[in-house]
Amino acid sequence: MYYSYVMGIDDSILELKKYGFVIENDNENYTISFPKDKAMLWEEFIVNKLELGYWNEYLADDKVVFLFQLEEGIERYEVFDFKNDEVLALCEKLCECKMESLEKMLSENWYYKKVMADRIKSTNQTYWNEHADLWFGTTALPTLGVLFPTEEELHLFGDVTGKRMLEICCGSGHSLKYNADRGATELWGIDISQKQLENASAYLNENGYSANLICSPMEADMDIPKEYFDIVYSIYGVGWTTDLQGTFDKIASYLKKDGIFIFSWHHTLNYCVGWSCDERKDVLESDGSLIFHKSYFDESYFNMPVHDSKIVLCNRKISTYINALANAGFVIEQMIEQTDDATMAAEGNITDKEKKAKMVPISFCIKARKL
Ligand SMILES: C[S@@+](CC[C@H](N)C(=O)[O-])C[C@H]1O[C@@H](n2cnc3c(N)ncnc32)[C@H](O)[C@@H]1O
Repeated sequence: MYYSYVMGIDDSILELKKYGFVIENDNENYTISFPKDKAMLWEEFIVNKLELGYWNEYLADDKVVFLFQLEEGIERYEVFDFKNDEVLALCEKLCECKMESLEKMLSENWYYKKVMADRIKSTNQTYWNEHADLWFGTTALPTLGVLFPTEEELHLFGDVTGKRMLEICCGSGHSLKYNADRGATELWGIDISQKQLENASAYLNENGYSANLICSPMEADMDIPKEYFDIVYSIYGVGWTTDLQGTFDKIASYLKKDGIFIFSWHHTLNYCVGWSCDERKDVLESDGSLIFHKSYFDESYFNMPVHDSKIVLCNRKISTYINALANAGFVIEQMIEQTDDATMAAEGNITDKEKKAKMVPISFCIKARKL
C-alpha cells in the first residue's frame, strides 16, 4: 500500500473510495492509503484537484513522490532516502518555514510517523523471522556486547534468586535460561519475531524451564503486569525500537519501585566511525586510523544489508538514551563504555574490529533504577 496525508483537497476525494482507497478524516485533512496499482489514478486526481500553492506527497515502497501545484503547473519529484535539496527548498518556500530535513518534516506528521514506524518494524520482523536460526544464542548473557566485558565480570544483575524478570527482545531465550539457572523464579520475554519465540520456547523447555513469551513489538501495549518486575533487561534489543521514549516509559511501568533496568546496545560511535554500512563491516584506513563516515548527530533511520536481506536501524546519541531514561523516571546507576581486557591487551595480527575496539567502544551498557 501507498500512504498520504492530504491537505488542500475538498471532499471530492471521497469519490476515490470506490477504487479501493481507504480514506479517513483528520479535521479538514485526510489520511489515505491505496493499492500500488492506483498510484497513477492518485496522481491524476492530485493534478486536477490540488489547490494552487499546495503540494502532496505519498509514501511509496522505496521512495516518496512529491507533487507541487505551482503557477507554472505540476512539478513531480521522486525522492529516495528522504534526500533532495530542491524538494526541501520548494517545501520551505510554499510553507514559508524552515525545515531541517524532509525526513524530519514527514516524521513530525503523526500519520507518516506511524506508517514509517510500522514499515521499519515489518522489515525487521521479516529479517528476524527468516534468520533467527543464524543468531541462536549469539547475543545472550553472559555476553553483554561485542568485545565487551561480560556479566561474569561486571555483575550488573547481582543475585537474581527469587526475582521476577522480563526480557525485552528475548530472541532465542538464552539469557532467560541464564537467569533461570541462577535462580530467577519468574521469566517473561517479549519479541517481535514468532520464529525467535519458537526457538526460545523449545530451548527453555529442553532445559526444564518455561517462560511467559509474548510475540509483540516492544512499542505496543501488551498484557504485561504493571509495577511487577524486579528486573527488566534487554541484550542488544532495545535499540531496535522505533519509539525510544514510549518504550522506556512502558518498561518503567512494568517495574516495581526501585526495580532495575539493564540494557546493552551498539555504541553510538560504532556506526559513525570506521564503519561501512553497505558492506556491514569495520573499515580502518591503511595507517590504522578511523574516520567518521557519519555524523554523530544523525539519528535518522538507515537500511543495512544483512544476509541477502536488510534491516532498518538508527543511531541514537548517548544523550538521547540518557534523557529518555530520565524522562521515564529512571536514575542511572552505572554506564559501561569499555572494551574487554583481552582485546585491549591483544597485539600483532588482530582483526579490524579488534583494532577499532582498542580505540572506541563497540557496545555500551546502562544499569538504571526506577525511582
Ligand atoms: C540482536 S537480537 C537480541 C536477542 C537476544 N538478546 C538473544 O539472546 O537472542 C534482537 C532481537 O530483537 C527483536 N526485535 C527487533 N525489533 C523489535 C521490536 N520492535 N520489538 C520487539 N522485538 C524486536 C528481534 O526479533 C530479535 O530477536
